[in-house]
Amino acid sequence: MENEYKLLSGAMVTLALATATLVVLPYLQLSDVQPPAELKPYTDQQLRGREVYIAMGCVYCHSQQPRSQSQAPDFQRGWGRASVAGDYYYDQPHLLGTMRTGPDLFNIGARQPSVDWNLGHLYEPRAYVPGSTMPAFPFMFTLKDEAEDGDVVVKLPSSHQPWGKVVVAKPEALDLVQYLIGLDHTYPIEAGIDLPTLPETARQASAPQEATE
Ligand code: HEC
Repeated sequence: MENEYKLLSGAMVTLALATATLVVLPYLQLSDVQPPAELKPYTDQQLRGREVYIAMGCVYCHSQQPRSQSQAPDFQRGWGRASVAGDYYYDQPHLLGTMRTGPDLFNIGARQPSVDWNLGHLYEPRAYVPGSTMPAFPFMFTLKDEAEDGDVVVKLPSSHQPWGKVVVAKPEALDLVQYLIGLDHTYPIEAGIDLPTLPETARQASAPQEATE
């Protein structure tokens, strides 16, 4: 019987330690994080676009977490400085992602701010990136004989323009693209402000000067 007690108390201690380090400690570390001054809250349209992003499963192929240079060459890839906790202040739920079948999108708004490009790329990625493995999302668009008042017509490269038709973006495509072009976290971060309780090394890893090294 004594052995069972030992086993049980050992298991309880392990569980308590794991809960403390994986749940309680991170919660305390992040409890006083503030949004960076230049980070704007999402507009209603961007929030709708965010819902589309979630519903379409974009997060399964795209991350939103550029890493520090000590971990990965994300900055050299043009994905921006390492993100800090405050960058996600308005993100509920966060969309960090785990897979990178496609590029990180945390700064896609800075990298590719063109509404036309983003709409066309969603309609047919291969019109812009030959050999792209990203799925097309043609059901977010309507093919019409001619555009009506208020229609947003997608300007496709002539090679992919459907013959005799215009491609009109549905509201969900417009919302999604507003969300995408709003993803711009390229403002500088003051070292330390967003990581109040992390050790000095972690602060340095996300300091802005890293970007110019
Ligand atoms: C099956 C994986 C997959 C899914 C799902 C996917 N993508 Fe992609 N995406 C890619 C790949 C691969 C690329 C790189 C090739 C390209 O640009 O087409 C890419 C590129 C992109 C780019 C251009 C990035 C850059 O740096 O130029 C954007 C923007 C984008 N995807 C948005 C989306 C959105 C929005 C969704 C959801 C509606 C989505 N993707 C769903 C795989 C995916």
